[in-house]
Amino acid sequence: MRGKFITLEGIDGAGKSTHHAWLVGYLKSQGREVVATREPGGTELGEKLRALLLSEPMHLETEALLMFAARREHLDKLILPALKSGKWVVSDRFTDASYAYQGGGRGLAREKIQVLERWVQTGFQPDITVVFDLPTEIACERLAKTGQAPDRFELETRAFFERVRKTYLRRAVTEPDRIKVVDSRQSLDDIRKILEKFIVTL
Ligand code: TYD
Repeated sequence: MRGKFITLEGIDGAGKSTHHAWLVGYLKSQGREVVATREPGGTELGEKLRALLLSEPMHLETEALLMFAARREHLDKLILPALKSGKWVVSDRFTDASYAYQGGGRGLAREKIQVLERWVQTGFQPDITVVFDLPTEIACERLAKTGQAPDRFELETRAFFERVRKTYLRRAVTEPDRIKVVDSRQSLDDIRKILEKFIVTL
């Protein structure tokens, strides 16, 4: 049987990576074979593209094209073969991030992203996408406390993250069956219970 594809999203600082690690461990404890991955990245070439994307200034269309180039490779080399062999794949970000960051954040026309999505995914979509939602001021405070050097996206303004956040929330309204929003102000335990309930429905 085909495995399930779960993607996690949210603005930087919303706690996605913490929940990603927990969810992967939880699914394994349930006896699933799980592949943990991330975007941009997930393959050898994809990780090289990630390094460029997170550090090099570039035209916003170049940025979008490279995101989808990395995604093409990710689908071909990792995501689709894993799902086919029955493994579950949990990705820290996927295409909703392109709509939110390159579209909402940077202002790239949604139609252009749709063209790339159709080209690269030919209708393929995650089984479920969880958006960890947090007011931008709290997310920025959390980011500042990590002590890690910010990447090219994390250096963006509050207004940028506001647009990214709004795009995620708007997408969740238009695709309620796939995209679920979780309020990241809740305790880790409460969020984990919500995630467990989502998993049961898959
Ligand atoms: P992120 O997932 O936040 O990783 P970390 O937790 O290690 O910082 O970093 C990836 C960045 O890439 C994030 O700021 C959002 C951005 N991004 C896009 O702009 N478009 C995309 O399509 C994807 C997948 C990511």
